[in-house]
Amino acid sequence: MEDLFGHRISYLRVSITDRCNERCEYCMPQTDLDWLPKSEVLSYEEILRVVRVGAGLGISNIRVTGGEPLTRRDVVWFFEQLSRIPGLRDLGLSTNGTLLARPLPDGRTTARALRDAGASNVNVSLDTLDRAVYAKTTGRDLLPDAIAGIEAAREAGFGRIKLNTVLMRHRNEHELWDLAAFAQERGLLLRFIELMPVSTSEVLTEDNFLSVGEAKRILEFRLGKLLPRPDIRTNGPASYYEVAATGQILGFIGAMTNLHFCETCNKLRLTCEGKLRPCLGSHLEFDLRAVLRDPAMDDADLARFFREVVASKPEKHDFRENYQPRRRMVAIGG
Ligand code: 5AD
Ligand code: SF4
Repeated sequence: MEDLFGHRISYLRVSITDRCNERCEYCMPQTDLDWLPKSEVLSYEEILRVVRVGAGLGISNIRVTGGEPLTRRDVVWFFEQLSRIPGLRDLGLSTNGTLLARPLPDGRTTARALRDAGASNVNVSLDTLDRAVYAKTTGRDLLPDAIAGIEAAREAGFGRIKLNTVLMRHRNEHELWDLAAFAQERGLLLRFIELMPVSTSEVLTEDNFLSVGEAKRILEFRLGKLLPRPDIRTNGPASYYEVAATGQILGFIGAMTNLHFCETCNKLRLTCEGKLRPCLGSHLEFDLRAVLRDPAMDDADLARFFREVVASKPEKHDFRENYQPRRRMVAIGG
């Protein structure tokens, strides 16, 4: 599938729940939390049908997100089913990591069970290595669990583990080196992400914003020169740099300041209640659930719907022009 601007769509982010065991300030409102009722959330069977149709249209990468996807029951079973869908090359998970080390009844860690079920890679959010800062940022004192989860993912043999750090002035700007060292010691790929206006939270102020440009300068102060590595690309819009002195690769996701950010976009998002969103930074969304639950609609109708959504994909996000967070990130899935 190609949109009007030549973006080839091969990547679907799938949110399987809006629930989370954390309360990150930048992701969800800190008060009046109301989770979606279960009937509004797509069943695993419904999601699998969407993915099957998507795979038939050229979707080859799936990333399962939340909320926190590991809070949903039977997520290992869901991965087993996903991994049987023909045409999928990459099956990833985005998680806060806190539940990855949790043992299952058969003694395996959740991370190991997911690996065995066919998950090929995992992205873990880690904004800080300071327990107090972690508790303040996520609303939960779970840094030890997150670190144990990262270790469990390493032990489970995930080939590609990425760490995602949301940049926040006054919070983690003095820790960027420590986070880089943490990743380096463990052979993990660290990416720094600019704070995006996607929640209703107060943390999204000009004052808390730290650009990737500034983060690079902070890192260079301690680590020495960073050299651009345009030859390295992952699935998303990250730009990669190499620390000249050590060879470590660091990623930067400059959603707000990188003017070319959207040029390589290959994504669609499915929210947990079945809205298909062509762009995270636009309010456009399409009610796929209505098609899914309409007995008169078949897979060909679903495919047509997919193509219409792709055709409506904007050229670029409108975060810069349109600073009106209307929806909780936790319900979109990052
Ligand atoms: N800005 C930038 N990143 C965010 N995430 C959640 N909310 C925001 C935001 N407002 C990140 C999480 C996680 C990914 C799924 O999205 O930290 O890494
Ligand atoms: Fe939960 Fe992730 Fe949102 Fe934090 S960013 S509240 S861990 S979904």
